[in-house]
Amino acid sequence: MKKKKTVNDFINMKKEREQVAWITAYDYPTAIFGEEAGMDMLLVGDSLGMLVMGYDSTVPVTMEDCLSHCRSVRRGAPNTWIIGDMPFGAYQTTDSDAVNNAVRFIKEARVDCIKLEGGQRVASRIRAITDAGILVMGHIGLTPQSSGQLGGFKAQGRDVKNAREVIKDALAVQESGAFSLLIEAVPPEVTAFITRKLEIPVYSIGAGPCDGQLLICGDMLGQFKIFTPKFVKQYADIASVTVEAFKNYIAEVKEGTFPTDDHVYHIIEPAAEFERLFKEFE
Ligand code: KIV
Repeated sequence: MKKKKTVNDFINMKKEREQVAWITAYDYPTAIFGEEAGMDMLLVGDSLGMLVMGYDSTVPVTMEDCLSHCRSVRRGAPNTWIIGDMPFGAYQTTDSDAVNNAVRFIKEARVDCIKLEGGQRVASRIRAITDAGILVMGHIGLTPQSSGQLGGFKAQGRDVKNAREVIKDALAVQESGAFSLLIEAVPPEVTAFITRKLEIPVYSIGAGPCDGQLLICGDMLGQFKIFTPKFVKQYADIASVTVEAFKNYIAEVKEGTFPTDDHVYHIIEPAAEFERLFKEFE
């Protein structure tokens, strides 16, 4: 059986320069496959709003949506570190709302830590949740919940003025007590500097080499076709495989080649007795 990692393992992996490989997962089967493959972590991201629920952003996703998907992933991956993603509205109001919702993730969905978006502006939230005894992963750079303010899903830190803010955000996340930091869509030069500067592990999605890499499951499997960010590497083409399988099934049903004798349950008493049964209803 796979041994579940602890926060100390992730801190040691940074020291030992061992990379952390993780993806998002939203459902039970993906969680099973992730654990079987040996993923170091699974993120139940609020990206589930776009990848699974068909919204055009992550903003409509609710606490109930996130908790339900976290529970499915926990059932599929009992021995993997799972991150619950705080949805928009779960921590924007007050420190106390943020703590209450973080507690729900731990108690009701049994995740190992929570993640929330923002740096300097959410410092007091990170501190409050950490003080409640809950591990927090920060998330800076391109923060999808505030993509409106950022002018869209745009890379961050590409000019010096903006890079300064990204670096200040990274420092604020560490100073507030987060155990790790995720950086999204930031130039590798800036990520490398932050990774050297911070003591906590720094992970990237579209931000170049650091202490580990995250990809969105539906992107790396070629399942989500609405748009694919530049930073995605596609490791499979699940959409084509799925559509091909659906087409083959439709064709076989229409032409009568499915089901065959291999796909049915035969009677276990003599046929003559069934003939008598059928006659009763004629
Ligand atoms: O919700 C999510 O999957 C995320 C990633 C985009 C980092 O937060």
